Amino acid sequence: MSIKKVGILTAGGDCPGLNAVVRAVSKNALRHGVKVLGFKNGFDGLVRNEFIEIDEHAVSGILTLGGTILGTSNLANPFRYTLPPFGTPEEPKDLSSVAMHNFNTNGLDALIAIGGDGTLHMAQQFVDMGMPVIGIPKTIDNDLSCTDLTFGFDSAMSVATDAVDRIHTTAQSHHRVMIIETMGRYAGWIALRSAIAGGGDIVLIPEIPYNEQVIVDYILDRRAKGKNFSIIVAAEGAKNEAGEQAVTRTVAASTDPVRLGGIGFKISNMVEEACRVESRVVVLGHLQRGGTPTPFDRWLSTRFGARAMDLVLEGKFGYMVALQGLAIGECKIADAISKLKLVDPNSEEVKTALEVGMSFGSAQIG
Ligand code: F6P
Repeated sequence: MSIKKVGILTAGGDCPGLNAVVRAVSKNALRHGVKVLGFKNGFDGLVRNEFIEIDEHAVSGILTLGGTILGTSNLANPFRYTLPPFGTPEEPKDLSSVAMHNFNTNGLDALIAIGGDGTLHMAQQFVDMGMPVIGIPKTIDNDLSCTDLTFGFDSAMSVATDAVDRIHTTAQSHHRVMIIETMGRYAGWIALRSAIAGGGDIVLIPEIPYNEQVIVDYILDRRAKGKNFSIIVAAEGAKNEAGEQAVTRTVAASTDPVRLGGIGFKISNMVEEACRVESRVVVLGHLQRGGTPTPFDRWLSTRFGARAMDLVLEGKFGYMVALQGLAIGECKIADAISKLKLVDPNSEEVKTALEVGMSFGSAQIG
């Protein structure tokens, strides 16, 4: 099959590296004489038929630019469409046939969907309807299976590590317990890796339920040894042994209805009362998704984008590009979304953290 025109979209939460991927896909496509339509705001653009035609000029100078020139949305799900004027949160509509119609009438030979878990679930639904789709794994959470890393993760980890580095001096000066709350949804990758890289004392992640008394004992033990400050890195999705997470809000209309947040303040208040020490909280939030991608993310995004276009040319639809060791390979989108990739409590990485004296706030691990 000869490929003449492809669509590309960026969906779900933004992250550094999206533009680098759009650039790489487009440059590789244009080089092969393939036209590229960039749909606006994720799958919303496919439903509303809103796109720009991408030429060399459009992708010039965007390699280092954060965000996405195409816009994104984590509200627009064609299979449960809630956005006005076509749908409402109370009455979601299935507009997947509209998206399919727009795909066909634009004469597209393939769609390249850049996104995380939610986006790739929608991509798979379109694959099941017969649309030729290639996926590219994006998310700061690093929680997609079949790929060693997602792009965006390294940039987020770098922001979080910088925060752990910077918090040290003020924690030391005031003899405080400082808590850094990271993103990551139901996975602890950002918290774990930034805590290891920055020298955090306690790390709380969803995969290893914490016990408040273990946290208190660890802090008091450090103080008894003359270490009058402690740094806790808490993933937003961290759970206690009862399985409770801190949630700021639930928004039914969103493709990601549970907004996690608040674990930092919960632990800080508990520590102040139980340890009789001062504690403060830094919530990193969307800073982890903003700004220039790290060199690693630009390198990974460029390789992912170029390879995704190669897969289109090879007609390998229903696949997602993946980092396998240091090589770029591919796997079925269905496999990548079959389960979330979480931190393994028995992994070498967790063992390393313990071996350098870190605590997971758990009596079960350590
Ligand atoms: O999935 C990426 C992510 O940044 C998560 O780490 C976080 O829980 C969520 O998105 C926040 O989403 P929003 O931008 O909708 O607040």
